[in-house]
Amino acid sequence: MSGETVSQWYNDHVELEDKRLILGRLEYEVTLHYIREAIDCIQRQEGHTNPLKIADIGCGTGVYAIPLVRAGHHLSISDISPSSVHLAHQKARAAGLRFTTTFSLDARCLRYHAEIYKPAHYDIVLLLGPVYHILSGPDRSDVLLAGLETVKPGGFMLAAFVTKNAHLRDVATRDPERLHTEWGFYEGYLRDGRYARGGKAPMWHGTIGEIRGLIEGLQRAGGEKGVESEVLKLVSCEGFLGFGHASHLASLGEEAFERWLGVVLESAADDTTLGAADHVLAVIRRTK
Ligand SMILES: C[S@@+](CC[C@H](N)C(=O)[O-])C[C@H]1O[C@@H](n2cnc3c(N)ncnc32)[C@H](O)[C@@H]1O
Repeated sequence: MSGETVSQWYNDHVELEDKRLILGRLEYEVTLHYIREAIDCIQRQEGHTNPLKIADIGCGTGVYAIPLVRAGHHLSISDISPSSVHLAHQKARAAGLRFTTTFSLDARCLRYHAEIYKPAHYDIVLLLGPVYHILSGPDRSDVLLAGLETVKPGGFMLAAFVTKNAHLRDVATRDPERLHTEWGFYEGYLRDGRYARGGKAPMWHGTIGEIRGLIEGLQRAGGEKGVESEVLKLVSCEGFLGFGHASHLASLGEEAFERWLGVVLESAADDTTLGAADHVLAVIRRTK
């Protein structure tokens, strides 16, 4: 993958991406729930309600960063797509909010950017996008490790992944012949999870086992550098519904939506629910 391809795609589709989580409302609210849970946990641990330092790497158009900065936290935002960072900055400014640092960067070069890469500095690091756009396995592992290095002991990293099931469900829904007519492509895809075809930003999709393997590798590599961590949860951001069913909830009124959210959250972190995930969120705590 070339970083330019991903960056170009998000630069060209910045408005579309800004609206993605309207239909993905459940993914958004579930993710925000676990971010807030991490914030509460840190504040409880430390016995205060002071603002936290949060790095949102792959911030997109600021869909998570803006509510977090509005809640009073200090946000350092960055993304490979300059147009996305720019829109996030503009939206914040229009709402009278300010980010601590706003930066365009490729997460694969995180360690070269002292403005963002600050070892053991942040209470929370969000990697909600970069990892599933990185086709090289070693690069994925290294981005996760670089992110974890910037988390304070006791702090959290939340990283998002996309599953192969998500793509296969989408093909079955929209173009079921394709699995057979393009079997040559799909044989390779099922093996390595690389979805790199013209017109789309390249992606890596994993099985739950592959995602777990990647995180176990992170823990081993971190351990060798004295960066210890524990995985608190793997969560299905669409609960047991998957994106297709979850999208029907998007236009519900607040109270009706909250009912669904409550029911989905009951089992979102159950192993048996993960097979229905389109997006998987790993909640990782740095312990040392
Ligand atoms: C699907 S969007 C997610 C945006 C937002 N974090 C969210 O969860 O809605 C993926 C984001 O990751 C960014 N991204 C992809 N590869 C990246 C990389 N190597 N370094 C930094 N950002 C990257 C993209 O530009 C895009 O903004």
